[in-house]
Amino acid sequence: MSKFIHETVTHVHHWTDHLFTIKTTRSDSLRFRSGEFAMIGLEVDGKPLVRAYSIASPAWAEELEFFSIKVQDGPLTSHLQHIKVGDTLLVSKKPTGTLVLDDLLPAKHLYLLATGTGLAPFLSLVREPEMYERFEKIILVHGVRHTAELAYQDFFENELPGDEIFGQWVREKLIYYPTVTRDEFKNQGRVTDIIKSGKLFTDIGLAPMNKDDDRVMICGSMAMNADMSAILDDFGLTVSPRMGVPADYVVERAFVG
Ligand code: A2P
Repeated sequence: MSKFIHETVTHVHHWTDHLFTIKTTRSDSLRFRSGEFAMIGLEVDGKPLVRAYSIASPAWAEELEFFSIKVQDGPLTSHLQHIKVGDTLLVSKKPTGTLVLDDLLPAKHLYLLATGTGLAPFLSLVREPEMYERFEKIILVHGVRHTAELAYQDFFENELPGDEIFGQWVREKLIYYPTVTRDEFKNQGRVTDIIKSGKLFTDIGLAPMNKDDDRVMICGSMAMNADMSAILDDFGLTVSPRMGVPADYVVERAFVG
């Protein structure tokens, strides 16, 4: 039996020459927790060609959403970037992952730290009711090179605060903090640098990060994940050592074996 469910593409949006979003149907049999990833892809030369992708839609949604880069000679994304409404997307049957609320101990604030398409799992979690029930403030930091790469900016600044179900929670609790490294912008600097220097905390009016009050989820490149983890370790926060063991912070491990 195939390991993959065949979903149908319902929507494709190209943000830039390098970034796009795909939405598909969701089979009833596909269960996951907000923040998890699945293996997704296409049949190429009669064989499934798949990669790990965080599911950007929440666990309760009827559709699936994925946020992807386009790499011109990338084995999968060179094909995936041409996907159209009505095409088939392969989705693995058993999503899993480390960026889940179950693996964080209780605290006041939750920091969601992303670079690039590392934003994807947080697009799921910001539509997860449990997150708002468990935390007083949620701070979503999205670091990109260029302002054009701030995909979903309008979603965070307009759509979500006006949402019928989430609007009030979002307006009271969610702080969206985009930051750019290679263009002029209101917030500048790498996610790691603005946390280390304290600039982020000054800008949002919260105390520097500490083990008593703060929990963190990290999702970016391997280098960003490693650099950010080292900073949190220095702040005295403890990483969840493996799935199912709650701690102060969790790191995306989709790409590590
Ligand atoms: P920079 O412009 O200084 O390289 P990328 O597109 O390469 O994944 O980068 C997305 C964002 O992540 C960019 O703003 C980039 O900054 C930043 N970045 C790259 N490497 C790291 C790292 N090790 N720690 C934190 N941010 C990083």
